Amino acid sequence: MDLHPVDIKTLAPEVFRVFGGQPPLLTAGDENGCNTMTIGWCQVGVLWNLPVCTVYVRPERHTYTFMESHDYFTVSVLPPDQKKITAFCGSHSGRDTDKIGRCGLTVRYGAGAAPFFDEAEWVLVCRKLYVQDMVPQSAAAEEAILPFYGEKGGWHRMYTGQVVEAYTR
Ligand SMILES: Cc1cc2nc3c(=O)[nH]c(=O)nc-3n(C[C@H](O)[C@H](O)[C@H](O)COP(=O)(O)O)c2cc1C
Repeated sequence: MDLHPVDIKTLAPEVFRVFGGQPPLLTAGDENGCNTMTIGWCQVGVLWNLPVCTVYVRPERHTYTFMESHDYFTVSVLPPDQKKITAFCGSHSGRDTDKIGRCGLTVRYGAGAAPFFDEAEWVLVCRKLYVQDMVPQSAAAEEAILPFYGEKGGWHRMYTGQVVEAYTR
């Protein structure tokens, strides 16, 4: 079945299973250029009485530049059999590889000209609402959090977006 718009209230993904086993593609940009990368960290819920999705991006990612320069981002969950694509987009940078072309992904555009992929099982199109850097001073359980930083990379920037469109099959 084709990817088509759906009321977010009727979309009921099993988020712990999905985000654990089908890491989504986070994409930002527009018709003039965009970038995508695999993300493992993603939350959906309600904030400020709005349906929201929060993603976490290290500043060294090429995608970070697009997250900063654009007001919208998308989260595309690919079918479970597309693990080669999520592995590729999570281990190559758009700085030196055309990941979307190499993976044969078909770009569609949603609200705010935000790019997402027609091959997805479901998609959230999000308008940036709130942006904040994660900082070591806020780590309440240091043993759980600090191992993710240092040599592994910089502290993530959180982007909470209002889910303004959802698509499913
Ligand atoms: C399963 C998986 C999950 C990942 N989750 C995140 C994440 O939540 N945040 C992040 O900044 N990088 C994450 N990454 C790393 C980026 O996807 C990776 O560094 C990518 O090559 C960045 O591409 P870019 O430079 O084109 O943005 C993840 C990688 C994998 C394989």
